[in-house]
Amino acid sequence: MDIEAEIRALQLDSAEDNNDVVNPEDAKLEKVEKEDEVEVEVEVEGMKDEVHGRSQPGQAEPKVKNKEVVALEDAEAQEEMEANKKRHLNVVFIGHVDAGKSTTGGQILFLSGQVDDRTIHKYEKEAKDKSRESWYMAYIMDTNEEERVKGKTVEVGRAHFETETTRFTILDAPGHKSYVPNMISGASQADIGVLVISARKGEFETGYERGGQTREHVQLAKTLGVAKLLVVVNKMDDPTVNWSKERYDEIESKMTPFLKSSGYNVKKDVQFLPISGLLGSNMKTRVDKSICSWWNGPCLFEALDCIEVPLRDPKGPFRMPIIDKFKDMGTVVMGKVESGSVCEGDSLLVMPNKAQVKVVAVYCDESKVRCAGPGENLRVRLSGIEEEDILSGFVLSSVVKPIPAVTEFTAQLQILELLENAIFTAGYKAVLHVHSVVEECEIVELLQQIDPKTRKPMKKKVLFVKNGAVVVCRVQVNNSICVEKFSDFPQLGRFTLRTEGKTIAVGKVTDLPVA
Ligand code: GTP
Ligand code: MG
Repeated sequence: MDIEAEIRALQLDSAEDNNDVVNPEDAKLEKVEKEDEVEVEVEVEGMKDEVHGRSQPGQAEPKVKNKEVVALEDAEAQEEMEANKKRHLNVVFIGHVDAGKSTTGGQILFLSGQVDDRTIHKYEKEAKDKSRESWYMAYIMDTNEEERVKGKTVEVGRAHFETETTRFTILDAPGHKSYVPNMISGASQADIGVLVISARKGEFETGYERGGQTREHVQLAKTLGVAKLLVVVNKMDDPTVNWSKERYDEIESKMTPFLKSSGYNVKKDVQFLPISGLLGSNMKTRVDKSICSWWNGPCLFEALDCIEVPLRDPKGPFRMPIIDKFKDMGTVVMGKVESGSVCEGDSLLVMPNKAQVKVVAVYCDESKVRCAGPGENLRVRLSGIEEEDILSGFVLSSVVKPIPAVTEFTAQLQILELLENAIFTAGYKAVLHVHSVVEECEIVELLQQIDPKTRKPMKKKVLFVKNGAVVVCRVQVNNSICVEKFSDFPQLGRFTLRTEGKTIAVGKVTDLPVA
């Protein structure tokens, strides 16, 4: 059975819907945004309202009573919004091991003036001492000793840079198959992906083969909500490539059907471009015609600048999956806002424990802000909870409309590739990855098999399925986890199942038990 065709059948997002959030709130958002231009107090009041827990889902927003006070707050909030006028996007660098993700990420920081020549020389020397001469650019992103010695990213590197229109957070994922869980955590925070592919002879082929991480990363990225991909064909300067149009076209033509079958609309969601991450060619400025005469498209910075992503709802119920936490004058949690906004002084819940907390401070990148909206990577200082009482995978959530916490849910699963001789049946155990949750789970019942062609449930009872099958089943976990229905919040309702370090299925939550 053709696995790739089946992934499409799963319709994690159909290519047509362009990954737009299937959310009736969206229409409202557009309206609200327009209103904001004339009536800012509505927005601020809306946020406050969430804070004080007065608003009821679905009700019209109450109007402000004390106009004077609110107007003052509005002015401040307005100022802050102005300062943050550039949109913010999280971009994850994915692709097979050694494709050049860290090198390209490092080069971006160098080209955007964040790393001086002296540091580069220092890295050059350090890389040489480790007999890894060509890795010096990667050292900008690979900051720990193990990564530098082995020349492989282990933990997701994080950095910031800006283009004309956008503030970017770069998440440099590891490509090595042992670190796929780290890659998943990086991708789950991202809006867009830069898929780095090595054009060097033999390297594209190894990455693309079954078992190579090019395919796995693409499938995971799509499942985890990475809406758009820039596919950078890297190492174009390599002597085996030498900016060959033929090689570039070959890679594009092989990748395109695969990207399609993974659910990406290649016309709307995917863009290819050639670069040399090591030399920095076609990155900040377009590649010189004397080097590459045939390329008439954009350079990487231009492409990143123009990329469009679906709108998120700043007025939706607040949801921020926690990816990390630490102690620093209180309890600080880190994560990406998936829905809603947060302001200093807000009362929120840490789910699934239902712990009531208060927001003491909000930090976006390095700076303290009063409020932050969806898509932002934040550090939030909380009072009312001890650091020990929080685990990654918990969700900072609205009080009025908290995220559901469940130990069981119904899901539609696409089986990718089971371990050899394994059968997917009731009793199957795997590790579930959903937003920042990593939890052991068991399939307790297979409910229906879906016909990949008609996408309709098949009549006959299903007891087990094989590779490539699409199946609806009940999934159970031991500890309560926070998930949403995919149809309500795609980012919080899509997941992957892994066994023994291999991704065996991707899925979406279709139903939750009634609370
Ligand atoms: P992992 O983090 O282990 O997945 O690898 P990575 O994708 O981050 O690759 P990295 O940036 O560490 O680069 C791997 C090797 O490829 C290094 O030797 C780089 O110098 C080399 N490399 C990366 N980009 C280019 C390029 O544009 N041209 C050439 N010739 N070599 C490159
Ligand atoms: Mg790397």
